[in-house]
Amino acid sequence: MTGLYLLAAAFIGTILADSIQLPFCKICKCHFVNNSAQADVTCTTNIQYNIFNDYFWKNNATNESYAYASINFQNNQFINLSYTFPPSELTYLNLANNAIYGIADSVFQNLQNMETLILSYNDLEILHPDALKGQYLELRYLPLRSLKELRLDHNKLHTLNQDLFMHTTDLEILDLSFNPIITIDHHTLAAIDSLAVLKELYLQYTKISTLPDNMLHTPKYLEILDLSGNPIKEIPATLKQAHSLKSLYLNNTDFVNLTAENGLKNLEELYMCDNIDLVNIDPMALASVSNNSGGAVWPPIKKLHIGNNKLAYLDSDIIARWDALSELDIRPIHGLANVKKSMDDRGFNAYASKDQRRDG
Ligand SMILES: *[C@@H]1O[C@H](CO)[C@@H](O)[C@H](O)[C@H]1NC(C)=O
Ligand SMILES: *[C@@H]1O[C@H](CO)[C@@H](O)[C@H](O)[C@H]1NC(C)=O
Ligand SMILES: *[C@@H]1O[C@H](CO)[C@@H](O)[C@H](O)[C@H]1NC(C)=O
Ligand SMILES: *[C@@H]1O[C@H](CO)[C@@H](O)[C@H](O)[C@H]1NC(C)=O
Ligand SMILES: *[C@@H]1O[C@H](CO)[C@@H](O)[C@H](O)[C@H]1NC(C)=O
Ligand SMILES: *[C@@H]1O[C@H](CO)[C@@H](O)[C@H](O)[C@H]1NC(C)=O
Ligand SMILES: *[C@@H]1O[C@H](CO)[C@@H](O)[C@H](O)[C@H]1NC(C)=O
Repeated sequence: MTGLYLLAAAFIGTILADSIQLPFCKICKCHFVNNSAQADVTCTTNIQYNIFNDYFWKNNATNESYAYASINFQNNQFINLSYTFPPSELTYLNLANNAIYGIADSVFQNLQNMETLILSYNDLEILHPDALKGQYLELRYLPLRSLKELRLDHNKLHTLNQDLFMHTTDLEILDLSFNPIITIDHHTLAAIDSLAVLKELYLQYTKISTLPDNMLHTPKYLEILDLSGNPIKEIPATLKQAHSLKSLYLNNTDFVNLTAENGLKNLEELYMCDNIDLVNIDPMALASVSNNSGGAVWPPIKKLHIGNNKLAYLDSDIIARWDALSELDIRPIHGLANVKKSMDDRGFNAYASKDQRRDG
């Protein structure tokens, strides 16, 4: 029954594709979802056509924009992005892998439904705030008003202009990973701190050794922070301010000793694999001191991944509720037997067998 329905849907999709004749669908792959007339366009091999031509975007006779829902242009050599996209309803634009090193002012200003902009794997070293300029809206300064997700990973950014996000203040996801940031200077800090509703921040492999104090005070809804692959030796103090943080990634960092009292209040997932020099985790490492009672409180950890290090012992007190764990990865650490022994009191056996099942 479902199969038949899908077949019918696919058939209608084909008819639409033929009848609408969206120009990009002649040179790229198009996919129509749910009988909609809007196409998801994918052009990921070299295109001989110049896609930066209004012909592809709007009907010359009526001036109406063509119905593209998402556009994925990759593996071209745009280099200097200076084409101002005409108005479009698209919600997703992927310009990864295009050797882009410059973006002219306001090129995205007509894409006021765009929620996701991907600029990964380019050559951006400098990004000017005007590149992200949008259009007039009362009470806001020329916003790109729908933008929620910006991926700038795998570029050459050392620093961000402090006003970089002045037109995109509603960003919830920012990916800066694999840029040679080294130090989060005060401009970069100001830029990130202008994002009051940021929920996910990706900073893995940026060569940073810590986060500036108070960095996480403003983005107070931050839920996911990835600091993997950086020369970080201790939990940055500002993580105490990240009251909403649920997932922390510290894979492949330089921890030797995860010391007490890092105050990760609401943490549900900790990934700390491949810290190959890690020899000690303090029993109070994840705990914080409660305001009221003065006693220690533990975060509600559900997933704990701390495989591949030099830990010979893991105190069962690091987690308050072993029975609340849904994932545990402590492999392959030396002296695993000691760890198991220390946890047996807390019903560790159940999780060891869960782990073995995942192994098998
Ligand atoms: C397509 O339809 C399904 C079921 O009605 C819905 O869950 C899904 O979100 C729709 N997808 C889009 C892209 O509209
Ligand atoms: C678009 O239409 C105008 C006339 O309205 C014409 O002069 C022009 O050549 C057309 N452009 C293209 C690309 O067809
Ligand atoms: C399309 O827009 C252009 C520029 O805004 C205008 O000059 C032209 O007359 C419009 N054509 C139609 C058919 O509305
Ligand atoms: C990029 O293109 C714009 C518009 O054509 C031009 O003004 C600018 O100088 C170019 N930048 C570089 C670095 O080539
Ligand atoms: C880890 O750090 C704590 C606090 O600084 C210290 O008391 C402890 O001896 C250290 N443990 C190891 C194995 O270095
Ligand atoms: C952390 O490392 C583990 C083990 O290599 C891997 O399974 C997990 O996906 C990594 N997590 C992240 C967020 O990189
Ligand atoms: C401690 O309590 C004060 C006032 O009740 C509150 O503003 C503050 O956020 C609390 N701090 C923590 C870390 O919970």
